[in-house]
Amino acid sequence: MDNKSVRGRRVVVIGTGGTIAGRATSALDNIGYSAAEVGVAELVQDLAPDGVTLLTEQVAQLDSKDMDFGVWQSLAERCSEWLALPDIDGIVITHGTDTLEETAYFLQSVLAPEKPVVLTCAMRPATALAPDGPQNVRDAVCLASGNADSAARGVLIVCAGRVHGAFDVQKVHTYRLDAFDSGDAGPIGHIEEGMLRRVREWPAGDRASADRVLERVRALPSDRWPRVEIVTSHAGASGRVIDALCASTAAGDALDGLVIAATGNGSIHRSVEAAALRAQEAGVAVVRATKCVEGRILPVVNATLRDAGKLTPVKARISLMLELMTRSAAPTPR
Ligand code: SIN
Repeated sequence: MDNKSVRGRRVVVIGTGGTIAGRATSALDNIGYSAAEVGVAELVQDLAPDGVTLLTEQVAQLDSKDMDFGVWQSLAERCSEWLALPDIDGIVITHGTDTLEETAYFLQSVLAPEKPVVLTCAMRPATALAPDGPQNVRDAVCLASGNADSAARGVLIVCAGRVHGAFDVQKVHTYRLDAFDSGDAGPIGHIEEGMLRRVREWPAGDRASADRVLERVRALPSDRWPRVEIVTSHAGASGRVIDALCASTAAGDALDGLVIAATGNGSIHRSVEAAALRAQEAGVAVVRATKCVEGRILPVVNATLRDAGKLTPVKARISLMLELMTRSAAPTPR
């Protein structure tokens, strides 16, 4: 019997809102609900596996479309404090599905945790006839406690019985309960009756660099985080959006970075590219990320704008923001 079996396992469940905490006026209504109404303590009631103690903390209560840097900063802070306690085995975060992949990517970048931090969610509100939240929470707790696999680590996502890694996961469906996918990387594994059937490696993390980023995330007020915008390239696109963004810098609202949501292998409409190059010349950090849901940008020789590899535009934006935050210790000029 190991020490954990003797003392039992302890998991912190952090609530942030979402459909999982949503309430509708009718149990038959799966879409006409208000997100973020039920408290996290209520969501986890009676869901702890034997020998697992759940502690709860409500860090936010919002529809995740409105996620903001202040909540991310609090989440990073609270997770890092809980993870440092030797008697905490892991963390579960209940979250809306709409920006879950962004929060997961952010947390993996700033924590690279050696313990499991498991984000989970639901596509139906808590009041639904057949809600999906309770099973997702139960699976997430099994993973975060180490019961499902004692080697679990990193920021993970559990939804509809599948376990995804923070770098690869994407919401791919508007309504289906199994709304997430990891593209051609595939899921990390499957939770089956509380046990993990793992099919690939845990997320890799560089703790030393994550610690450096976390230090900046803690130190910089969330309203001073770098301003990085996403501009989409498509048929008939023009560079005017980028020119307007750069003009806002001149008007005192500095644009620090730009992600071009590019077509195919990172190609960009010539008008957008010309404006992006002007922006880069003016000191804006510019990155290309592909809109394709699978694959990665394969580098080509003589590329004038760097690429984000396999990162989606929203994740490339977070990556660029964190890079700009750590590039200089001085606050971003506004
Ligand atoms: C949200 O993202 O908070 C609402 C949608 C959902 O959780 O499915």
